[in-house]
Amino acid sequence: MLLVAAAPPAEDPYASGPVTSFSVVGDVSGLPASFPADMNLAQSDYVEQCGGCHGIKGNAAPADLPNLQGRVGWFMCLPEGRAYLTRLPNVARSRISDHKQMADLLNFMVFGLGGKSTPAGTRPFTAAEVAAGRTTAYTSVSLIKVRAQIVDKVIQKCGAPASLRLMYPPDAVRTALPLAGRARKAG
Ligand code: HEC
Repeated sequence: MLLVAAAPPAEDPYASGPVTSFSVVGDVSGLPASFPADMNLAQSDYVEQCGGCHGIKGNAAPADLPNLQGRVGWFMCLPEGRAYLTRLPNVARSRISDHKQMADLLNFMVFGLGGKSTPAGTRPFTAAEVAAGRTTAYTSVSLIKVRAQIVDKVIQKCGAPASLRLMYPPDAVRTALPLAGRARKAG
């Protein structure tokens, strides 16, 4: 009986290895192959600078902050949506001061974490675009209000799901649970 118990159950989602093996770099297929970018560096920059709040996979639900996984790419369909991403305080005033390095981080975010929400043919962020966002960074405005206006447009003009109005769609909580399970198992 002990021998049977020692074998991991076939359906064990954690049997494949520790969380450090996580990588979505292979999924950044929307990024033009000709675009020069170090996506490994971009991913570790994201995990270090943003993942603590947003989750390493861009899903922090049920924490009360916007889910990036599978939805942040919708903002790329409108110029003001792209600008919104570069003007966010945590982006514009990040300790990553190099514009190209931040552009790559954002490209990892939209092409990697955003997945199918990023429209086909989306132009990657450039250093110049990040620099421009920094000169018009949001400071005292109500981000909730700004976001609501942009999200309304993205829903109307680009066909984004109405759930983009929420911080995260209801099923995001379900996909967040395995990480919690992983932490329990490790601890
Ligand atoms: C201290 C926690 C924290 C850190 C670190 C952080 N964010 Fe955020 N982020 C938030 C919160 C809270 C919001 C929601 C409103 C706001 O911006 O204040 C947000 C909003 C966003 C949004 C808007 C998404 C939407 O649906 O409207 C994006 C994109 C984003 N953050 C990306 C990043 C990136 C990229 C980094 C790293 C460079 C980062 N964030 C670092 C907390 C954080």
